[in-house]
Amino acid sequence: MIVCSCNALSDRHVRTHLANAPTMPRTVRDTFRSCGKTPGCGRCARTLRCLLRDALAERAGDVAQINPEVQRSAA
Ligand code: FES
Repeated sequence: MIVCSCNALSDRHVRTHLANAPTMPRTVRDTFRSCGKTPGCGRCARTLRCLLRDALAERAGDVAQINPEVQRSAA
């Protein structure tokens, strides 16, 4: 599913990128930069923040903090 229409970024692309990023982005702006993209309208910020929070939780090994709302929307 496309989560950022300005940059044609899918949730799968962002998740894969975050899972494999050598340095984990800490903000939505960092996430754009890390993906080689620049923010446009900003409508995707909330979704990207959820994906980033999930990736941070997964990296921390705290699977219980994964946001079920994002999991449903990605299905
Ligand atoms: S939808 Fe992501 S910057 Fe516009």
